[in-house]
Amino acid sequence: NGTKDLTGQDWVITAGPTMEAIDPVRYISNHSSGKMGFALAQAAQLRGANVTLISGPVNLPAPNGVNLITIKSADDMLAACQQAMTNQADVFIGAAAVADFKMKAINHQKMKKQSNADEMQLTLVKNPDIIATLASQKGAKYIVGFAAETQDVIHYAKDKLARKGLDMIIANDVSRTDIGFNQDQNQVTVLTKEQTWSSELATKNQLAIQLVEHIHTHFKSTLSK
Ligand code: PMT
Repeated sequence: NGTKDLTGQDWVITAGPTMEAIDPVRYISNHSSGKMGFALAQAAQLRGANVTLISGPVNLPAPNGVNLITIKSADDMLAACQQAMTNQADVFIGAAAVADFKMKAINHQKMKKQSNADEMQLTLVKNPDIIATLASQKGAKYIVGFAAETQDVIHYAKDKLARKGLDMIIANDVSRTDIGFNQDQNQVTVLTKEQTWSSELATKNQLAIQLVEHIHTHFKSTLSK
């Protein structure tokens, strides 16, 4: 809409996958391209927000006027978020697909194939839950998560909203191959404690403009309570 009504607000947004090293040449990751998070960063910046975008490894150009910080692992992403939110941010959006697990111990040398073994096992341990940690630390006044689900999308999204202590969650059905991971289009359902809104199918850029509007409206309404 051309207005710069987010001027003076600090928005911190995560995007992309995290990459969890197995050894110097191998890693665990996922199909997130960063498109959704980068589109949100650009949409908020165009409305005047001061945007920090913390991204895992992706192949996208930095959005104009956005402070882009690149990281690899979930541990690095958490540390970068906490640094970006030393002064409480206004809005945090977790669009990154954070790996839930990492290696218990990263091998410092390339792991060798055991010629007599048909199976091998890796021991993984839980990664920190970045958004739940930031929510408990009140790192931002308004905290928005995404939920990537393949079944019972709304049910699991509501559960994540409550369990992670979020203000809003944006649910996408990643079992559909036309939307979600790595596609240019997405269709989402936005949930707060009180309200539910389902978007049309749209490009991630168009959707990001609508989502920034929604987030801003709900954030404002919590401030006036
Ligand atoms: O990047 P694209 O190709 O454009 O794809 C977009 C997307 C599908 C990745 C995106 O829209 C999306 O849904 N991102 C969140 C994916 C995800 O990891 O969902 P989740 O249900 O596992 O996690 C729920 C929320 O907790 C997310 O906000 C996630 O960032 C956060 N989380 C999860 C695990 C963890 N250890 N720390 C977290 O902060």
